[in-house]
Amino acid sequence: MQQVMLADGAMMPKLGMGTWHMGERARDEAAEIQALRHGLDLGIGMIDTAEMYGDGGAEKVVAQAIAGRRDAVFLVSKVYPHNASARGAIAACERSLTRLGTDHIDLYLLHWRGSIPLEQTLSAFERLVRDGKIGRWGVSNLDVDDMHELAALDNGHNCALDQVYYSLSQRGVEHDLLPWLEAHSMPLMAYCPLDQGALVRDPVLGRIGREHGASAAQIAIAWLMSRPGVVPIPKAGRLQHVEELAGADAIKLTAQDLLDIDQRFPAPGRRQPLMIV
Ligand SMILES: NC(=O)c1ccc[n+]([C@@H]2O[C@H](COP(=O)([O-])OP(=O)(O)OC[C@H]3O[C@@H](n4cnc5c(N)ncnc54)[C@H](OP(=O)(O)O)[C@@H]3O)[C@@H](O)[C@H]2O)c1
Repeated sequence: MQQVMLADGAMMPKLGMGTWHMGERARDEAAEIQALRHGLDLGIGMIDTAEMYGDGGAEKVVAQAIAGRRDAVFLVSKVYPHNASARGAIAACERSLTRLGTDHIDLYLLHWRGSIPLEQTLSAFERLVRDGKIGRWGVSNLDVDDMHELAALDNGHNCALDQVYYSLSQRGVEHDLLPWLEAHSMPLMAYCPLDQGALVRDPVLGRIGREHGASAAQIAIAWLMSRPGVVPIPKAGRLQHVEELAGADAIKLTAQDLLDIDQRFPAPGRRQPLMIV
């Protein structure tokens, strides 16, 4: 599996597994754990979760999926903006650690920007790093103006990455956010990389997929993975979907594929507000 280097020198898998909507229904729990374990078995060594997902239920599902193999997983979780005060973020992280059944989170993100000043969140994050509770910290749903503001703060340059909506149908980040992140050695973690499933039915991606013996979903993920510093985190609850996603790592898109994809999903020529779900 491809890896990407973070600014602190740590390596992170270039593909992860999302967990939004996991941990919401007890009857689905066993299948969700199985899906995540299957992904880990197939080499997808990163899991993205959040205290928000399933009101903590997703973190509990993740705990069971990573039990006995914590060291083989790059674990990402997120704090709610209303918990992201200097003291609140520490307490929220402790709760996440308990639910996750681990003593550290590899990457801890501010889920989106709320009303608590970023300085407070950063001071909590830096303390969590010093205490070994988190490996590093980052942000989510911050557009380029917010990133400028963040980078100007004390320790703002320690931000590891920004997790934002990025898919073939939502390419606005290519205009300014992605170049800014590249210039600051921060990967872009791409959420909703399948447009929440809509892209898997696209006929052009389906046709390119057939030429590679692959599915439309695999082409959408392979395209994101082919971009430097871009790390997609698709969510798959079905085992066959997990297998397809793991296989996307090996797909090499041709120059003609890239042209066809650009024609079907053109990048906007001007700035667009960040898409947030
Ligand atoms: N930071 C944020 O604010 C934020 C916001 C949204 C999402 N996220 C993170 O990003 C992750 C991904 O986003 P998402 O879950 O919203 O959407 P997504 O990954 O774009 O799409 C998920 C959907 O795609 C389907 N799928 C997956 N692989 C497939 C395949 N090979 N063939 C056909 N269908 C396939 C899944 O079906 P099955 O489940 O049935 O397999 C599911 O319905 C989330 O789970 C979460 O961890 C973060």
